[in-house]
Amino acid sequence: MRKPILVTDGFEKLQEIEIPDTGVKMLGLEVAHPQAPKARPYRFPKAETADVAAGVKLGLNIMLTGPTGCGKTSLPTAIAAKLGRPLVRFNMNGETRVAHILGQQRPVAQEGVLTLVFSLGVFAQAMRDGYWVILDEIEAALPSVLFVLQPVLEEGNRSIQIPDTGEVIHAHPEFAIFATGNTLGYRAAARAKYAGTNVLNSAFVDRFGMVIDCAYPSRQEEVERVRVHVPDCDSDYIDGICRTAEELRRDSGFRADFSTRRCIQWARLLAPYANDVLQTAELAFVRKLESPTDAKVAREVIRRIFGYSQGV
Ligand SMILES: Nc1ncnc2c1ncn2[C@@H]1O[C@H](COP(=O)(O)OP(=O)(O)OP(=O)(O)O)[C@@H](O)[C@H]1O
Ligand SMILES: [Mg+2]
Repeated sequence: MRKPILVTDGFEKLQEIEIPDTGVKMLGLEVAHPQAPKARPYRFPKAETADVAAGVKLGLNIMLTGPTGCGKTSLPTAIAAKLGRPLVRFNMNGETRVAHILGQQRPVAQEGVLTLVFSLGVFAQAMRDGYWVILDEIEAALPSVLFVLQPVLEEGNRSIQIPDTGEVIHAHPEFAIFATGNTLGYRAAARAKYAGTNVLNSAFVDRFGMVIDCAYPSRQEEVERVRVHVPDCDSDYIDGICRTAEELRRDSGFRADFSTRRCIQWARLLAPYANDVLQTAELAFVRKLESPTDAKVAREVIRRIFGYSQGV
């Protein structure tokens, strides 16, 4: 027999919890669920948090789009952590199979004999038990997996039939679905940057009642975001890093993305490398750039912003 994930789901004690710095209130668990994400350093963005609150309340499927490292995955994860809500994240790479969604027969030893027993997929369990689910990097999913998910995305009537058992699972009222993607499937120009992504079927996209655009933050906000992750880093360095990010994003000669993740990685390296800006920039991101032109532009911008003479 499959063990239930939980003895009690904890939802009988839902209470309003205020999301810091946003004035947004959402229903959360009085005692954090054991499968709730751990709280990490995070600054809640007001508008996007309010959108998530509205979407969840209305029972909408929420798609978070935007360039790499702008905070798509962190937003629902941080809100779930604050609310103590259980959350599972599916990395929708080519390895995510229908079996992970619906379930599969597994060999189980019963009184010394190996027998095949059906075990419900993690997704179906999450749906039944009211977890929040993040379908991360949705454009990397196999089309077969997306088709299985379509009935689950019927807002107002989310259900799924498990073919092996005939069981129909209806979504728990607290169940919520988020998907993240860099391209929203059909933006060909963006797709050129994100290798390995598929075009999303428009019927699939259509089932998302809300699309939240998570752009990179303003420089001031990005400085604060980096600071919560690397509080001991000198303000002047964080400011220079975020200036570099801002300039490179605007620079038409720089084709790659410059994510908040890169800013944080760079800031973290500074202390162990005695604040050597140029070396840490190479280690943290310049070497990741595929195009020599991007690397050249990045080195020039860093030298200018941090006051190094060119070409030294
Ligand atoms: N609001 C925020 N406050 C603090 N840190 C943040 C915030 N948003 C994002 N970050 C940090 O920025 C980094 C990138 O965020 P995240 O992984 O959520 O981006 P993403 O958009 O999902 O990226 P990808 O498309 O590559 O999956 C993480 O280290 C995260 O902690
Ligand atoms: Mg992500």
